[in-house]
Amino acid sequence: MLVLPRNRTLDNGRIRRNSGSTLAKTNSHGQQPSAILCSGLTRKFGGIAAVDSLDLDIPYRQVFGLLGPNGAGKSTTIKMLTTLLDPTGGTAFVAGFDLVRQQAEVRRRIGYVPQMLSADGALTGYENLIFSARLYGVSGSEAAHRIDETLELMGLQDSARRLVRTYSGGMIRRLELAQTMLHRPAILFLDEPTIGLDPVARRTVWDRLKDLRRDYGMTILLTTHDMDEADELCDELAILHSGRIAVKGAPAELKRKVGRKSTLEDVFAHYVGGTIHEGGNYRDVRSTRRTVARFG
Ligand SMILES: Nc1ncnc2c1ncn2[C@@H]1O[C@H](COP(=O)(O)OP(=O)(O)OP(=O)(O)O)[C@@H](O)[C@H]1O
Ligand SMILES: [Mg+2]
Repeated sequence: MLVLPRNRTLDNGRIRRNSGSTLAKTNSHGQQPSAILCSGLTRKFGGIAAVDSLDLDIPYRQVFGLLGPNGAGKSTTIKMLTTLLDPTGGTAFVAGFDLVRQQAEVRRRIGYVPQMLSADGALTGYENLIFSARLYGVSGSEAAHRIDETLELMGLQDSARRLVRTYSGGMIRRLELAQTMLHRPAILFLDEPTIGLDPVARRTVWDRLKDLRRDYGMTILLTTHDMDEADELCDELAILHSGRIAVKGAPAELKRKVGRKSTLEDVFAHYVGGTIHEGGNYRDVRSTRRTVARFG
């Protein structure tokens, strides 16, 4: 398995140093370039700011979590950072490229798993992967090689020839991760990667995400309502509330701040109030995500 040193990153299938013209933006700590750097990033819908002056500075190889209640602006942030939605204010650099002026460069270096179901249930897992490979410009023997590699990585070799509508929720999410991996992105954006999954399936996805970071040096930005997930996976997280960052830091640091023996749920309740909650097969995941899409 490919192991990259700290100062290298995967760039469109090639190993590059994290420096030079494409990755010139450095973070506030000095030399180390930022995978994601935003300053005052804003998105208004009508007169209302869904994301309001967001400042983020995420180094390469970090797993960063965006938390917050429904409607806090998590998906809107991800949609901007993946170039699907134009910001109405502020600036952002993703993989060292300007989000607005260098969209094609940004897209080449990122993978995105949306909150809504993206795998096609009427196709087999393998066919879904072929489709994604074409979409990302990976073809021929290279595509076949990468598909085999990602199927193995995600533990889906034995089910690759089955229709996706027969998959469990956890298998679908792992297939969707595989789909975003084919062009070897440096940065992965995952909008609620384990929504609707049972505890076992959820843990399998967590393990695969840890593999991606460890073996491929991948930077991951994820959103979640699951405090255990944030605690287990994230090096750093930000809790969004009404489009603004209520608090940011490492999970352990945030828990310490709120009080001895505090959990992340306590941290969440402290900064935004309320509680969090959130298991299944293709239909369960589809309906959960449709509901979220309608009301989120
Ligand atoms: N296309 C749109 N037009 C108008 N308002 C929108 C649009 N997309 C999002 N919003 C609003 O922006 C705010 C933030 O929505 P967003 O989907 O980013 O929240 P979220 O944090 O992802 O919530 P959830 O946890 O439910 O997924 C909400 O008030 C939402 O209604
Ligand atoms: Mg959302």
